[in-house]
Amino acid sequence: MKVSITVNGAPREAEVAPNTLLVELLRGSFGLTGTHVGCDTSQCGACTVRLDGKAVKSCTVLAAQAEGCEVTTIEGLGAPGALHPLQAAFQETHALQCGFCTPGMIMGALDLIESGERLDEASVRAGLDGNYCRCTGYHNIVRAVLLAAGANA
Ligand code: FES
Ligand code: FES
Repeated sequence: MKVSITVNGAPREAEVAPNTLLVELLRGSFGLTGTHVGCDTSQCGACTVRLDGKAVKSCTVLAAQAEGCEVTTIEGLGAPGALHPLQAAFQETHALQCGFCTPGMIMGALDLIESGERLDEASVRAGLDGNYCRCTGYHNIVRAVLLAAGANA
């Protein structure tokens, strides 16, 4: 079957099987390997992308379910020299080590920032509890999100 999706602002099409996952489509067919696969069981959040403006774990969404939707991946957020404020905040606060979790963290954190909710350490930790990091201990990730949100980090 064919799926037509807008990915990072550009129309894309691909042939997929009915059981192809969105993350497989993004990484395999479209070469967008910034979206990572950590667990494949909807736990780690490494595969988080935005689907019609909301964070989803792309290992739990079928490619066919994204038909006609807008998908944003980490590659669509910023670029070297023109980082998104969240990317810049992660860099400034040293919020990553190996970087495996970082794209998913940032895509998940976007929802938090755009929610309009007043963020503090507790709400950021709660909001990102579906995103695992095995390196940093989370402290600087929380600082980065608060910095990008304009809250006191
Ligand atoms: S790879 Fe999707 S949640 Fe872990
Ligand atoms: S920086 Fe390594 S898993 Fe988060």
